[in-house]
Amino acid sequence: MKIGILTSGGDCPGLNAVIRGAVIKGDHIYGHSFLGVKDGFRGLVADKVHKLPRKQVRGLSRQGGTILGTSRTSPFEEGAGGADRVKEVMAKHGMDAVIAIGGEGTLTVARMLHEEGVNIVGVPKTIDNDLSATDYTFGFDTAVAIATESIDRLRTTAESHHRCMVVEVMGRHVGWIALHAGLASGAHAVLIPEIPISFERIVEWVRSAQARGRAPVVVVAEGFSLDRDSTGGGSGIVNPRGVDHLGRPRLGGIGEALTPMIEQATGIETRCATLGHLQRGGVPTAYDRVLATRFGAAAVDVVTQAAWGTMVALKGIEIDTVALRDATSELKSVPRTRYDEAAILFG
Ligand code: F6P
Repeated sequence: MKIGILTSGGDCPGLNAVIRGAVIKGDHIYGHSFLGVKDGFRGLVADKVHKLPRKQVRGLSRQGGTILGTSRTSPFEEGAGGADRVKEVMAKHGMDAVIAIGGEGTLTVARMLHEEGVNIVGVPKTIDNDLSATDYTFGFDTAVAIATESIDRLRTTAESHHRCMVVEVMGRHVGWIALHAGLASGAHAVLIPEIPISFERIVEWVRSAQARGRAPVVVVAEGFSLDRDSTGGGSGIVNPRGVDHLGRPRLGGIGEALTPMIEQATGIETRCATLGHLQRGGVPTAYDRVLATRFGAAAVDVVTQAAWGTMVALKGIEIDTVALRDATSELKSVPRTRYDEAAILFG
C-alpha cells in the first residue's frame, strides 16, 4: 500500500516518533511505502506531497516539532474543496490511505472525511490530554515535565525574594497539565477550569503558605476563570487575546490578571510567569517517545486491516482501536475527585 501521513493542529512533542514508528513498521513488516503531506490538511488539498522513505525517519524519535509541518486548516473550509479534493489528490499520487495525527479538530475532520469515503485513520496527540477515548496522549508527559521543571526553578527565585509566584500553564479547557505539574512541584494552589474556586480561597492558600515561611506558588491553567460560579456557569474563560482564524478563543492572560489581585489582597510581592509554547517545544520525554512510537506502529496495523474511520488509543498499558465518531464526542476533563485529592495538600 501507499500511505500518506500528515500532522495537523498545534504541534506536540512526539509527532516525529509517530511518523518514524509508522514508516519503519510499515516498510519492514508489510512492505508499504509512504508519502509525507506538508502542513496538515492544507498540504493535502494544495497537493504538497512528497516521498517519505525510511532513511528520512532515521533518529527522529527524539526530535521535537514535526518534520512534516502543521497547520490548523480543514479541507471543509470555504474554497478548500472538501472530500472531493482530498480524493483527487490521493488518486493523483496513488495514495491508498491517510494517517492523520492530530487533536480533537483533526480527528473531527478525519471522521468527516471517512464519512465521505476517504480511507483514513487517526492518531491522537495533544499536550492537553483532553481526548476521552484514550487514557493518555503523547506530548502531555513532556509538557508536564517542562512545566514542573520551570516551577521548580521559579520557586527558588521566589524563595530568595520572599515572593509569591503565579505560574500560568496551557491546557485549553481542561486542567490536566496544571494538576499534574502542580502536584509534582508541590504548588500551594492549583486553579483549573473544571473547578470553581473563589478568590478568598486562593488568598487563604497563599497566606497560609507564607505563614509557614514558604514562598507561595500558585499554578493556574490558562482556561481558569474567576467568574465561574459554583454551578460551573459563567463564561469559564478569560479571553483578552481574541480568537484564532477558526474562531476558537486564544486563551491566556489569567495569570497576569490574578497577580496584582493577589499582591493587593495579601501584601506579598507577587510575580507572574506564563510558560506558553515552551511547554510544546523541544525533545519528548522517554514516555512520550514510547507511546508515540507504539501509536505509529499500531496505526499501520489498522491501515493494513482497512479499519477506516478508527483511531489508535491507549487503554491501560495496551494499544486499542476506537471509532473516530466516539473519539471526539466529549472532552476528558479533570474529575472532582482527582482535584480534591490534590487540594488536601494546598495552602
Ligand atoms: O492544544 C494545545 C495548545 O497548546 C493549548 O494548550 C493552547 O491553548 C493552544 O494549543 C495554543 O495554540 P496556538 O499554538 O495556536 O497558540
